[in-house]
Amino acid sequence: MNEQLLEKIQNLKDAHNAVILAHNYQPSEIQDLADFCGDSLDLSIKAVQTDADVIVFCGVQFMAETAAILSPQKTVLLPDKFAGCPLADMITAEQLSQMKQKYPDALVVCYVNSSAEVKARSDYCCTSANAVEIVNSLPKDRQIIFVPDQHLGRFAAQKTGRELILWPGYCHVHVVITEEDIKNAKAKYPDAIVMAHPECTEPVKDLSDEILSTGQMLKFTEKSTAKRFIVATETGMLHPLKKQNPEAEFIPASDRAICPNMKKITVEKIIWSLEDMQYKITLPDQIRIKAKKAIDRMVEILPED
Ligand code: 13P
Ligand code: SF4
Repeated sequence: MNEQLLEKIQNLKDAHNAVILAHNYQPSEIQDLADFCGDSLDLSIKAVQTDADVIVFCGVQFMAETAAILSPQKTVLLPDKFAGCPLADMITAEQLSQMKQKYPDALVVCYVNSSAEVKARSDYCCTSANAVEIVNSLPKDRQIIFVPDQHLGRFAAQKTGRELILWPGYCHVHVVITEEDIKNAKAKYPDAIVMAHPECTEPVKDLSDEILSTGQMLKFTEKSTAKRFIVATETGMLHPLKKQNPEAEFIPASDRAICPNMKKITVEKIIWSLEDMQYKITLPDQIRIKAKKAIDRMVEILPED
């Protein structure tokens, strides 16, 4: 990493009282220069806790939006305004409203990978780390609509024994990982523990030992005595896993599981972002206030460590 660029970032951070948050799928050089890395839940909590005035969010749009909703007094910057999440775009607010009309008594749980407008029409928001706890906390006599990720929804339904009304959304990065990939990796490394993200398909999860959010993968491998892990999620995740546990071997389930949107953030774009205070994430008050109710519940109902 170029020392001059790092120094420039530090000076800009000092000048603006800024902090850099990075998701676990970010390019490794971005993770290495960030002040804090984590999964969607960790980063949302960090965005609330930090006393910085400016948050440079190295991730995708819905993550920066969530930070801005939780902390409206802070300036939240996304270094590339086109870093979106196709999964989050798979349901519109209008589509959710139509679904609510069909099931008028149902509670709505939305995955954090959704737009602010969808969150504003939801009762609860969750991440992959606490979907099970959120669903479990809901009254047993209420139907539950779960949007937009069908695979996380099925995982939460299976774990809680609740019947969820699902939306057919999916993450194009995680569905690329196939049952064959897992079978081949297991045949090659029979001693390895398979960790899969809940956004993976059901056959992949059925073949896995652990189903974990990215932050939970780090916690799990930190405690595990195993020396080899097959990792069924976006390949950026290998960097923090190896960094935390250099003795162990981490094998990607598929080299094709790369999120192009997560890779849009670059060191140069972080510098431009801090120089020009762009791209500021702002939301109309009526959406922000409603969405905040669902997101507040997301950061209150936490998984056990
Ligand atoms: P995590 O919250 O587990 O990091 O997942 C975020 C995400 O976008 C998965 O594709
Ligand atoms: Fe969205 Fe999938 Fe990329 Fe995560 S990995 S940000 S769910 S497209």
